[in-house]
Amino acid sequence: MVDLDTLTSLCKRRGFLFQGSEIYGGLASTWDYGPLGVELKRNIKDSWWQTMVWERNDVVGLDSSVLMHPEVWKSSGHVSNFTDPLVDCLNCHQRWREDLLEDAFCPECGGDLTQARNFNLMFKTFVGPLEDESSTSYLRPETAQGIFVNFNNVQSSTRKKLPFGIAQIGKAFRNEITTGNFIFRTREFEMMEIEYFVHPNEDEKWHQNWIDDSFNWYISLGLKKEKLRIRKHDQDEMAHYSKATFDLEYDFPWGWGEIQGIANRTDFDLKAHIEGSGESLTYFDDSTGERFVPYVIEPSAGVDRAVLAFLSDAYTVEDVPNAKGGHDERVLLKLHTSLAPVKVAVLPLSRNERLAPLAREVFDRIRTSGVARGFVEFDDAQSIGRRYRRQDETGTPLCVTVDFTSLEDGAVTIRERDTMSQVRVAIGDLEEQISWRLLN
Ligand code: GAP
Repeated sequence: MVDLDTLTSLCKRRGFLFQGSEIYGGLASTWDYGPLGVELKRNIKDSWWQTMVWERNDVVGLDSSVLMHPEVWKSSGHVSNFTDPLVDCLNCHQRWREDLLEDAFCPECGGDLTQARNFNLMFKTFVGPLEDESSTSYLRPETAQGIFVNFNNVQSSTRKKLPFGIAQIGKAFRNEITTGNFIFRTREFEMMEIEYFVHPNEDEKWHQNWIDDSFNWYISLGLKKEKLRIRKHDQDEMAHYSKATFDLEYDFPWGWGEIQGIANRTDFDLKAHIEGSGESLTYFDDSTGERFVPYVIEPSAGVDRAVLAFLSDAYTVEDVPNAKGGHDERVLLKLHTSLAPVKVAVLPLSRNERLAPLAREVFDRIRTSGVARGFVEFDDAQSIGRRYRRQDETGTPLCVTVDFTSLEDGAVTIRERDTMSQVRVAIGDLEEQISWRLLN
């Protein structure tokens, strides 16, 4: 199992993640996705959308605004209930989330702690030039409320029948008391959420269904089954809106941590917005003549936590024989091909000017044909062995090597990341050869 320092340093070295505002000394717990990180994150979101929206017939998408009417957060209960218990150390004055502490003393210095007080996690801001109570708004702490307030809009524009869901991917903001473990707990993060509306009599069946579908999505993308578990929330840890919640937890380098929650939110939110807005957020079943407020099952996943889980899971160290008869260490990211940030790297054997034009031609051909369905890289710096290692370390599934024989036989070598096997293929067959290898 990789430790967090090793993973963090690989992420920085290879351009997955950088400390936010680094040249100013950094802003605590903010991270910027670099060229490879942004590809990985985008691939995770695209795979999720593909499975949860495009491959189903009962989920449609939405992209609602981060800033919402302040009354939304009063009705939803976030103004009064979205709090964590905050304690201060009387000795070193560090602040802690009481519910995450192992005992009643400061984890830093062992000092006594104050009584817990509730701290609201929503970031406040002002809409417009006046900074007063009437212009106060919040950065959304979940994307879900944007879905609830659009229930009528989506239902009437799509004419969807129950059960149906609305999916949304977007940023959320929480003024967390304690952050840490790299991108695991930050104050700005991204979520992939579905609010799935069902008849109240069918909530438990659909809850189980979404637990299974969510679990299977991670497994289908190669996450090791033994590193993923389902944990039911105790009564005292559930959010104010929930009847029952199950977490999917991943076995991170520091232990088990939540990557996704699947909650039964009942009719709590729609009823709260009916009361708050005066609008009727109901569903009419024309086959039974029944009008009711649907229940909601909510699979809610953290994108950044998924990035961290997939990276930790993919990190592999192997012992491989070298040319001198000894052994070398090979570090590779065994990422699923659909998640890999670079799909294909084109590597001319050397920078020799005779090779360059053909290597560029092969690169252009792969890149512009769209066969890789993702980022294609050209790398001609350093020895071929080092370049293979570099691509292994960032999870590139296929390397295409152009050598001097290519000038004569019009063929190149495809090298596979996991097996390191090499096969010679005609340049004319490259698209087909790459396509099936990336799909398998
Ligand atoms: N709408 C439901 C909801 O917000 P949640 O369990 O509070 O539920 C959903 O959050 C997911 O968002 C979590 O499972 C986690 O993956 C991610 N998440 C929550 N807080 C986070 C934070 N501070 N940093 C990174 N990800 C976070």
